[in-house]
Amino acid sequence: MDMHRAFHERPLSVGQVAERSGVAVSTLHFYEAKGLIHSQRNAGNQRRYRRDVLRRVALIKVAQRLGIPLADIGLALSTLPCDHIPTAADWQRLSAQWQHDLDARIEQMTRLRDQLTGCIGCGCLSMQDCPLRNPSDELGEQGAGARLLETH
Ligand code: FES
Repeated sequence: MDMHRAFHERPLSVGQVAERSGVAVSTLHFYEAKGLIHSQRNAGNQRRYRRDVLRRVALIKVAQRLGIPLADIGLALSTLPCDHIPTAADWQRLSAQWQHDLDARIEQMTRLRDQLTGCIGCGCLSMQDCPLRNPSDELGEQGAGARLLETH
C-alpha cells in the first residue's frame, strides 16, 4: 500500500478501526486516552481516524505481546509524531529496542528461575540467606532502613 495515500483516504470510524484491527472499541478508546493513537472530530463530533492508525494499533499489539509495558510503548510511539505514518525504518528502530528489552527480561527471569531452583526444598525464607527473600541489590538500593522496616 502507498502509505502516503493514507493521508488522503476517507478516515475511519472507531467501529471500522475495531473491525479492521481486531481490537475492541473500548481498547481503542483506552489507547487514545493514553495518547497512543489520535483521532479528529468530524462535523458531527464523532471521532475519525486516519487509516495509518491501523499500523499504530498493530505496533501496539505486537509490543504488548512482547510484554512491553504500555507506558514504554507510549514513550516509543511518542517518537513518532501523530502526523507521521510509521515506516519500515521506524519499525526496525522500535523492534530493535524491544528485542533488547526482551533479552534483559529473559536474563532477569532466568536468574530468578535459578534462584528459585535453589530455594525449592529449602523453605528457610531467611532474610539473611535466601536470595529471593533478600536480593541484596534491592536492599542496597532501598538503604539500611529497609531491613529494619521488614523486621517490625
Ligand atoms: S528458601 Fe531457603 S534459600 Fe531461599
